Amino acid sequence: MYKIAVIPGDGIGKEVMEGAIDVLEGTGVEFSFTYENAGDECLKDCGYALPDDTLALAKKSDAVLFGAAGETAADVIVRLRQELDLYANLRPVKSYPGTNAIFQDIDFMIVRENTEGMYIGVESENKDGATAKRLITHKASQKICDYAFKYAITTGRKRVTGVHKANVLKITDGLFKKTFYEVAEKYDTIESNDYYVDATAMYLLTKPQFFDVIVTTNLYGDILSDEGAGIVGGLGLIPSANIGDKGALFEPVHGSAPDIAGQSKANPIAMILSAKMMLEFLGENESAKAIDEAVLKVITQKNILTPDMGGNSTTKDLAKSIKNNL
Ligand code: NAI
Ligand code: MG
Repeated sequence: MYKIAVIPGDGIGKEVMEGAIDVLEGTGVEFSFTYENAGDECLKDCGYALPDDTLALAKKSDAVLFGAAGETAADVIVRLRQELDLYANLRPVKSYPGTNAIFQDIDFMIVRENTEGMYIGVESENKDGATAKRLITHKASQKICDYAFKYAITTGRKRVTGVHKANVLKITDGLFKKTFYEVAEKYDTIESNDYYVDATAMYLLTKPQFFDVIVTTNLYGDILSDEGAGIVGGLGLIPSANIGDKGALFEPVHGSAPDIAGQSKANPIAMILSAKMMLEFLGENESAKAIDEAVLKVITQKNILTPDMGGNSTTKDLAKSIKNNL
């Protein structure tokens, strides 16, 4: 019996979480789900965006499922990643046949450093404007690059691309780039190359098939993964895993989507595939594969899809249909 902390959060976070739990219950794997609050609504209700009880539950669970937060995202999800030391953020970008993806043959993994970079939250105002600190350490860079190469080996990937802006950010990104090649040397069966982040943003549109595994710092990984979502049919399809040495949290890449919240229009697939990544993390590979196949089947059957995929079904119905196809 796995102990899972469930934090639905705000907006469509709640709606897609319901769908994912429904699918997980259909796998036959035994879970004990414990729900806690976090996010904008929670802040309004209890004065904290991330209450101590929620953090404590996340720390003592086998894994955490997270929906989305709204404006408090930095205080909730960024803090959860730091508090649980979830240093690796995995964001698979994969196109499904027959969807409105710009490209139909995309399959790469973004490995995003998750604890430092631009998101350490050290900002200050001064008389001329404001400053944000960006932290890059050798230790975290080495850990994330090592993770990316190990990931490539265990999943049969061929190439790891390090993404940075070392021509301008000579010291910080210079360190990241140097560390990337230091690590790459240990993995001689995996090809390695590096690109500047701005060029990468273009290559994702001009030659996305080139990419296999991308490893990059926090902010670049955040931006490139939304671009990745864009080329394969939108944020409703992209899941993520936040992995640490002592825990893991699984969440869709998207936010609380206030523009469609409360209308049963949200695509639950990103959340359901995040739950699938949780099953893989727990070693329940057969159930994970069953979810993968059910998602593919429902997408290709095309009769039950949410509006972002060109259908008119509800979040619940799409989730139910995936569950029924397990
Ligand atoms: P968003 O990801 O919530 O939405 C961007 C666009 O994608 C919207 O048009 C939305 O309708 C669409 N979309 C997102 N998920 C979808 C789904 N499952 N199905 C169908 N369409 C979907 O990002 P946005 O609009 O920039 O931010 C909204 C709020 O979410 C903000 O308050 C932001 O701070 C928060 N946010 C939270 C995150 C988190 O909790 N991890 C991540 C990103 C944003
Ligand atoms: Mg983002």
